[in-house]
Formats: sequence, C-alpha cells, structure tokens
Amino acid sequence: MSKNDFQVYPLIDKKKRGEKLTAAEIKWFIQRYTDQQIPDYQMSAMLMAMFIRGMDTAETAALTDAMLNSGECLSFPGRNVIDKHSTGGVGDKASFVLAPIASAAGVRVPMIAGRGLGHTGGTVDKIEAVHGFKTNLSLSEFSDKLKSEGLVLIGQTPEIAPADRLLYALRDVTATIDSIPLITASIMSKKLAEGANGIVFDIKCGTGAFMRTPKSARALAKSLIETSTRFKKKAVALVTDMNQPLGLEVGHSNELIESIETLKGRGPADLTELSLHLAAHMIHMAGVQKSFPKALAKAREMVSSGKALAEFRKLLSSQGGDVRVIDDYSLLPLASERTAVTASAAGHVKMFDNTLIGLLLIELGGGRRSKTDTIDHGVGFTFHKKIGDQVKKGEPIFTVIHHPHQKDLVKSIRARFLKDALTMSKTKVRTPKLILDQLP
Ligand code: URA
Repeated sequence: MSKNDFQVYPLIDKKKRGEKLTAAEIKWFIQRYTDQQIPDYQMSAMLMAMFIRGMDTAETAALTDAMLNSGECLSFPGRNVIDKHSTGGVGDKASFVLAPIASAAGVRVPMIAGRGLGHTGGTVDKIEAVHGFKTNLSLSEFSDKLKSEGLVLIGQTPEIAPADRLLYALRDVTATIDSIPLITASIMSKKLAEGANGIVFDIKCGTGAFMRTPKSARALAKSLIETSTRFKKKAVALVTDMNQPLGLEVGHSNELIESIETLKGRGPADLTELSLHLAAHMIHMAGVQKSFPKALAKAREMVSSGKALAEFRKLLSSQGGDVRVIDDYSLLPLASERTAVTASAAGHVKMFDNTLIGLLLIELGGGRRSKTDTIDHGVGFTFHKKIGDQVKKGEPIFTVIHHPHQKDLVKSIRARFLKDALTMSKTKVRTPKLILDQLP
C-alpha cells in the first residue's frame, strides 16, 4: 500500500473515536468521494463523525483545501480584490448596496453569490428580478469583467468547488449542516476559489440565522478568520443581528427597490449602517484608505455623490440587465395586491421568529420548496414595525404584497405570523444593536 492509499472504514472509525485526521487522509477521502468512488452512505457516516467529534483548525484547513482543489481556482494579482460573504438571513440585501459603494471607491469586487437556501433569501435570485440580468457567466467571462468593470456578480458555477455542491446536498439531508468546521470549509472553499485577496464576513446571528446565539456566531467568525489566515487571506468578520429582517422589505423586487433607494441615500437606517460598515471594511482592507474611519467617510461619500448608484447602473448594464429599473421601479415585477397585517393588541415589538418569516415568504411563492421551483419575484412583505417599536391595537405591522388569487393564503399567513412569528411585550423594549461584534 502506498503512503497515501487509505481505506474508507478505518478512517470513518478513526474520526468516530475522536482522533484527528491528517491532511492526507482528508484529501484522499474528499477526492474519492468527488470521484464517486466513496458512496453517499459512507460519506454521511464520516460527516456525522466530523459533526459530533468536531475538527481542529488544521483539520478544517485540510478539508477546505481538499474541497477547494476539487475544482478550478482563480487568482487576481493586487491587494484591492476584496469580496464579502454573508452567512445568510432574511431581508439581507446588503450586497447590492455595499458592492457598488466599494467598487466606486476603487475596490475590485468579485461576487459569486448564492441562491436562496432554506428560509434565507439569495442574492442571485433577487438580482434576477431585473429583466435580462445574466448571472450565469462563465468563469473566464467573470475574470474578464472583473478586470474591465471592477464589479461582477454571478451565481455558483460548476467549476468552483464541486465537492462542496455534493457535500452540501448530503449535509442538507443528514442533519449535518450546522457544524462550525463543516460550514467553514464549505464557505471558504468557494471564497478562496474566487481569487479574492481579502474577505469581509457578515456573520448573521439570531432567529433568522444558522447561528442562533452570539457565542456560536463568534465561534464561526473565529473559525472563518483562522482559516482565511492559514490561506494567507486578509479577513474581518462582523457578527450582526438577524432577529428581524434587515431593512423593511422581504422578497425579491421589493428588496431590490429598497437597495436602490439606499444607494440613493434614502434607505432604512439598519440597512444603510450595515452596508456602509461592510463596504468600509472592504475599502480599508483593499488599502484604498489607511484607516477605518477614513474608509467609512469614503463609503458615505460614494453614496452622497451618487457614484455608488452609478456603479450599480454600470453593473446592471455590463451584465445585460435593464438599467431603466433604477429610475422606474414599475419595470420590476411586483404583485398587484396589498394586505396589511395589523396588531391584535397594543404593546411593544419584542422579537420576531425570522426563520418563520422566511418560510412564510416561501409559501407565498417568494422562495423554493424544491430545487426545481421557480421564484415569484413579485411577492413579498413590507415591515412597518421593528423590534423596540410601540404598536397600537389595529396598527399595521407589515403589509403582504401578493396576487389577487392568494387572499386565503394571506389570511393563513396573517394568523401564523401573529401566533408564532411575533412576540409582543407590554413594557418598553430596547432597540437591539445591529453590529454585535467584530473580529479580529
Ligand atoms: N453557507 C455555505 O455556503 N455553506 C454552509 O455550510 C452554510 C452556509
């Protein structure tokens, strides 16, 4: 047996007993699985062993490396190629705001974004509400556009980390998603393959996030930063609140409109603040500004001068999208009916079950129940109240944007929202902090 020829069963057994796997063992296992020489049932057992026993930084880096090298890797010279990654949430449209801001300031932004996953919305699904916008560029078109335009946004391509696609689908059905080393390797394998020289992470934390507590979100942030450092990439992570939708809009077309409004300087406070902070970290990391306060001032200037909006216009145009939507929102698909969901009693908004809000959007058609479902870009929710707000009896908490034939569904959404997704308090509630932590 050659030095790197292993057996499947003893490796599963080794991890099951809590021993550490070597980089060579992990590489062998992942390569064999990607080449379909290891069946799903044995990979599932290995994933469960990894999930239960955990993996240290070296094992996580080895898993990342094996998954990264299962596909193509891009590389862009120069320190100003910086990406951002969000771990996913409800109403999270910050990419549409921060990427043009950073790009307008001189950062090159290569975004390979995701589609909706579970209850969370996807950047790629949202931008596809713009007629003609192409998210399926080839990797060579992606590279060329990054060089010529400085900002490019596409969906996952088959060439990038194919092992992750196979493993993710398996984790999804074997209850092995919410493991910090497995999430780290999954995210990092894709981000490293994109060729960015630095990454700004937005680690969502709360009822609408994979990480429910600040402690677990911080642990994921630490793991992502350690892995980035091992691969010689600069990284910053913000842990941010996901106990309520980001901004006021949840959906596709309506989230895009809110993003464009934010680029015009008229966005809600939380979306504006988070987008500016994330963009400022990218600007600082790229070396465009020497200090974070200067980078933040630069980010603000990109919005107030209209340069960020011009950059978004350029992005739409360069990828075939209808740029007229920026000035005429009626060109985006939006359902015709509006039904307000009102408070059944007075009080203060204490908490939202944000995962349930994401699932209710899927029921309305604004998400997928199965891989082959198509998304209705025109439906959604507009929130009128946030955590900490006072509500009078009968006041609207949110409005459902829907089609005429969905009236019964809207009634059921209203009932479930009021019963299970909203917690009210008789006493005053503090407005929650948006940015909870920053690492390193
Ligand atoms: N996002 C990913 O890309 N991978 C995970 O495992 C979880 C969230």
